[in-house]
Amino acid sequence: MKKHLITSALPYVNGLPHLGHLIGCLLPSDVFARYLRSRGEEVLYICGTDEHGTPSEVGAAKENMSVEDYCKKYHDLHVQMYQGFNLSFDYFGRTSSQQNEEIVYRIYNELEQNGYIAEKVTKQVYSSDDKRYLPDSYVMGTCPHCGYEKAKGDQCENCTKVLDPTDLIQPRSVISGSDKLEIRETKHLFLQLPKLEKELADWVETRKGIWPDIAYSIAKKWLKEGLQERGITRDLKWGFSVPKEGFEGKVFYVWFDAPIGYIGITKQWADERPSERSFEDWWLNPDNVVHTEFMGKDNIPFHTITFPATLRGTGENWTQVSMLKGMNYLNFAGGKFSKSLHRGIFLDDAIKEFPADYWRYWLIANAPESDDSNFGFEQFAMTINKDLNDVLGNFINRVLKMTTNNFGQQIPVLSQITSEEEELYETLDTLIRQYSSYMDNLDLRKAMATLREIWVSGNNYIARTEPWKVVKTDTDRAATILNTALNLIRLYANLSAPIMPQTAKQMLDLFEISQDISFPDSRMSSYLTGLKAGTAFKLSEPLFKKIMPDRVTELKAIYKEEA
Ligand code: MF3
Ligand code: ZN
Repeated sequence: MKKHLITSALPYVNGLPHLGHLIGCLLPSDVFARYLRSRGEEVLYICGTDEHGTPSEVGAAKENMSVEDYCKKYHDLHVQMYQGFNLSFDYFGRTSSQQNEEIVYRIYNELEQNGYIAEKVTKQVYSSDDKRYLPDSYVMGTCPHCGYEKAKGDQCENCTKVLDPTDLIQPRSVISGSDKLEIRETKHLFLQLPKLEKELADWVETRKGIWPDIAYSIAKKWLKEGLQERGITRDLKWGFSVPKEGFEGKVFYVWFDAPIGYIGITKQWADERPSERSFEDWWLNPDNVVHTEFMGKDNIPFHTITFPATLRGTGENWTQVSMLKGMNYLNFAGGKFSKSLHRGIFLDDAIKEFPADYWRYWLIANAPESDDSNFGFEQFAMTINKDLNDVLGNFINRVLKMTTNNFGQQIPVLSQITSEEEELYETLDTLIRQYSSYMDNLDLRKAMATLREIWVSGNNYIARTEPWKVVKTDTDRAATILNTALNLIRLYANLSAPIMPQTAKQMLDLFEISQDISFPDSRMSSYLTGLKAGTAFKLSEPLFKKIMPDRVTELKAIYKEEA
């Protein structure tokens, strides 16, 4: 059996994550990792902070900190926030780690030896007041096309035209505002992607029908336009220094060392567990490892073209991406999340307002898979009230209370099975098969919708069999119905756990079942008789609370959600 390596795109360390980041790759990858573990698969789930580059240097200067301290501070905040949302990484590392540096050098040296690295003199903007080179996006000026005064040197966000910093009228530094800019010639290293194009194109072709359309078509589009050589070094201080004569004071580009970070972080994990298998067992073992990558759609070219080419160019037999999920964007009230404009909901605030599972549920149910989707508090409240309170929560409360009132706090005896139960078993067998095939294909919204149908079928069963009436005339029959319903709670817990791990645990705790979450591997006719008569259960507070209209109004005001 192959084992599963799962990676989530590495979030930039500077700035803090919001709901868009959570649904963009972190949460989907966590759901998938939990799902596979529940099926008994061997999983290694890796993520970490992406730390190098100008934004970290600028951020550190703003906070009057060394860039090392700054990255450590924000790395720790990321860790804390992800813990709040119960993301189950096996390891959450850092691209600035010494292990990553080691792998970056190994890969770079191999690329160099194999003739895939070239030197070129380039022209870069230098700011003498800032005493640094400015990346294109750190040069601001007036757009020559539309007159927008705050256009960035890579693109005008007003008219979306792609720009060069030299196109801008009255260019100035984003960092200091200084207009003392000059163009300097500086030498850099380039990865010779054109030399790897043929090999890459053949490989991408084999991914047709396997990768989702969005990933395959973006890769094809790049290949069709012809691959360009790409700069892999920058004039910066913060990063891994380039180990080559004549390149003193330069570092590798953040997009060169970030994806290699998946490997470096795996090595961090392995180094802390010398007794376990080494990182090579995951990363130089393509025949035995399925690698699934999660990312926002803007990351797809790096994961389908640049990084695979980088690995290929080494001549080593690296584990390549097998499956990849690219998410669209989550918007807030119809617009983008934005830190600078204080638009949207950041994870530290989100977790203060509602339990993690409310967010996890809503985000997966509304995942921006086929298109962008939108977060709004009204719709959020509606979904939580309807699906979690009315459908799932109510079922559990009613069944526990009804049983307690009639049979005491233990599972009553299952006697004669009727066609009602048989029908339920059959419906569930079909739905569970559907659910797992959606999960296997990373169709999260569809998996979620199927899970909801599974909950609904329990409600329908109770509505049809009416145990509250039956108990007055036929206690044996009522006991059988409630026995089945209580067993459904265990089923729901095991199926819902990838999406709502805390709630699943609370559900199992009702019966004091301490066993690990495990996906039902038998048919319902035997699974739903698994909890035996006489098993005690606890009564608990309702698992969910409704979100009332005045709360929605309040939240909309706090988070500035305009219609
Ligand atoms: N930090 C990048 C982003 O947030 C993602 C890097 S993914 C990696 O867009 F593979 F390069 F690590
Ligand atoms: Zn413009």
